[in-house]
Amino acid sequence: MVKPSVLVTRRWPAAVEAQLAENYDTVLNTGDKPMSPADIRDALKRYDAVLPTVTDTLNAEALDVDGAQTKIIANYGVGYSHICEPSARELGMTVTNTPDVLSECTADIAMTLLLMVARRAGEGERELRSGNWTGWRPTHLVGTKVSGKTLGIIGFGRIGQQMARRAHHGFGMKIVVQNRSRVAPELLQQCNATQVDSVDELLPQCDFVSLHCPGGAANRNLINARRLNLMKPDAFLINAARGEVIDEWALIQALMFEMIGGAALDVFDGEPRISPDLLQCDNLVMLPHLGSATREAREAMGFRVLDNLGDFFAGRAPRDRVI
Ligand code: DGY
Repeated sequence: MVKPSVLVTRRWPAAVEAQLAENYDTVLNTGDKPMSPADIRDALKRYDAVLPTVTDTLNAEALDVDGAQTKIIANYGVGYSHICEPSARELGMTVTNTPDVLSECTADIAMTLLLMVARRAGEGERELRSGNWTGWRPTHLVGTKVSGKTLGIIGFGRIGQQMARRAHHGFGMKIVVQNRSRVAPELLQQCNATQVDSVDELLPQCDFVSLHCPGGAANRNLINARRLNLMKPDAFLINAARGEVIDEWALIQALMFEMIGGAALDVFDGEPRISPDLLQCDNLVMLPHLGSATREAREAMGFRVLDNLGDFFAGRAPRDRVI
């Protein structure tokens, strides 16, 4: 029997690549470089399945293809705002993602960011490594206590819920949630959380605000200058979701003029390009998109893609179909 042909756009954990190669006629992008719209267009004409990541551009230009061979785009990752939904629909392509398996690790990174920015850990590390530490003193790099404070969570999907659990059970934080739909009361009760109706209502109440909503056009610049102004002047903003959710220029202004306490980001608009102005902000912690970067999560993401491909090529509805 002829195996379906599959293009993997970046290098994956070895165990998953091996399994893929057993089941499919697999082509690896051995250069491990992001694929351009032209590369993607070409791939869509040649392979039964394309397995991209957040770094590949599957915009309307890339998906403007006649006679596509690809039937399924099985994304390695939970966020899929890099895939143009109307174009994928028009081409009749199935799109899947990899939920669940990275929720705990991504929430761990959001919590890491929160602790780092509250306790000025990034500043401390920079000072020590640059040889500028002069020793302990009562007024040195004094941060903010986390325990007992109020955490606002915008987007209460799987990752937002994991963040709430960590903050509530580990740090006794009070949790306030904003979500586009009503959250089941049992889920809120697990973390003694309350749900508010809008982002505007959440922001002024919180000492920390953590973003866990999807990216894409609907949430672009959700946190803009007006909303940054609604935050407490000593509050912290955390983003392990997608860069476009924050108006980066507005955030830079808010940090430079100390309109908020600080921010901590794992994701950036147009990453890996980083605005030089962000680099100037001391009250900012930055990580290079590490949310799901554990051995366990990255393997599980790959095997979840395999599950989806298995479903699809066996004629079943893929378990994680999003389009
Ligand atoms: C995700 O799974 O969405 C990660 O951010 C990597 O794409």
